[in-house]
Amino acid sequence: MVAIDGPAASGKGVLAAALGQALGFPVLDSGLLYRAVGRAVTLAGGDPGDAELCARAAEALDPTGLDAPDLRTAAAGDAASRVAAHPGVRRALLDFQRAFAAREPGAILDGRDIGTAIVPAAPAKLYVTASPEVRAERRRLQLAERGEAAPFADILADIEARDRRDGERAASPMRAAPDAVLLDTSKMSMEDAFVAARRIVEAARARWESP
Ligand code: DC
Repeated sequence: MVAIDGPAASGKGVLAAALGQALGFPVLDSGLLYRAVGRAVTLAGGDPGDAELCARAAEALDPTGLDAPDLRTAAAGDAASRVAAHPGVRRALLDFQRAFAAREPGAILDGRDIGTAIVPAAPAKLYVTASPEVRAERRRLQLAERGEAAPFADILADIEARDRRDGERAASPMRAAPDAVLLDTSKMSMEDAFVAARRIVEAARARWESP
């Protein structure tokens, strides 16, 4: 089982998908769960700051319908980061993530707290990061591709606000697990980052598969 954590737009999602393909493991982008809760709350006219309402939305979530394109928008990411601060929301999403992590022959989960809170015993842990500026530029290109053009400065401010909110909340804040391997992709192409990530995971795999 591979745990991949890191901040917004660090490249962890791309790496998780590529590793999943290379290893033949299913991949869960756990951010989509929080995005779906945020969307359910905002669509119903609710306040993402309302802990009880958000926890109820998380308990009612059907985690199989996570491929809607509107979950990928900047607004959905912002709502996700707000609802994710509530312990009741995190609790409601825990069992689904742990069951996914236990799938055979192995699974990959990416998020903020996979290696610290969801599967602290994960045999392979990566913490993928990049400077806020590099991440903002990557996000700008992604958004532009989807027709959501936005100024670099606004995207950077959003990324920094999200880092603060995700890193400073009391409930499972975004952290590198002490035994995670750090992968700073600031100066790497995604191809190089994939080669490095695969090497790290294969080394861990050799350890977990040896008797
Ligand atoms: O990875 P993402 O940008 O799709 O995540 C959206 C938000 O969801 C993120 O800002 C914080 C929250 N999140 C979380 O708290 N824990 C996770 N494991 C994944 C995401």
